[in-house]
Amino acid sequence: MWGYYGAMKAQGEDKNLKKIVGLAAADLVKDGMTVGIGTGSTAAFFIEELGRRIRDGLSIRGVPTSYQAKLMCHKHGIPLLDPSLVDRLDIAIDGADEIDYSLNAIKGGGAANTMEKVIAAMADEFVIIVDHSKLVEKLAVSFPVPLEVVPAALSFVMRRVREIGSRPELRMAVKKAGPVVTDNGNFMVDLYFDEAPDVYRLDRMLKSIPGILENGLFLGMAHKALVAWEDGVEVMLAGPKD
Ligand code: 5RP
Repeated sequence: MWGYYGAMKAQGEDKNLKKIVGLAAADLVKDGMTVGIGTGSTAAFFIEELGRRIRDGLSIRGVPTSYQAKLMCHKHGIPLLDPSLVDRLDIAIDGADEIDYSLNAIKGGGAANTMEKVIAAMADEFVIIVDHSKLVEKLAVSFPVPLEVVPAALSFVMRRVREIGSRPELRMAVKKAGPVVTDNGNFMVDLYFDEAPDVYRLDRMLKSIPGILENGLFLGMAHKALVAWEDGVEVMLAGPKD
């Protein structure tokens, strides 16, 4: 089945809260840091604010998670390093589509989950920035789990993910005929579930299917989340990591 993810993303979004949390995230960035820079409309506010602080004298280097982040950083005067030349970051800051109270998250609404995951894994501190509409008790009930899929493996992957109990939809492009093509030249498949899946088990199963480059489950990766509410920004911390 083919789907259109954008319609779901528009629900419950509050641009002002995204801006508030994007600005708050800039306070975490200190002089001299190498910073992973996320993708999406919340990260865009963070990028804009970083650019403003750089014009005021902040000295950092950014590492973008997507073409969108790269172009925005360029526009706002943020010096960039190519991700392929970096093996460690001081901090990475990115949005999410859903996050639970253990700071597990779903990402990939902007089709950038593969590089977003690589950059998050490189960072000494990975911080998720969201408005409160993204905070959920259980992941993958309201939002699908995105997969980046190698095009030649599409039919095989669709069969295998149906067999594990999901309803897959190939994500279709807007303002382009046909499917979304990622920055890496692949397709996106969104997995829908009738009941909340065990995300740890699901992650293991998805990792075992050849042709799935990366899935959008970010389990145990975030150290911190900034959550914007109408009356302020809440800081949520993850438990200790191994
Ligand atoms: C892109 C992402 C984004 O971080 C996620 O979709 C949130 O986007 P927005 O801040 O626009 O709501 O994972 O792949």
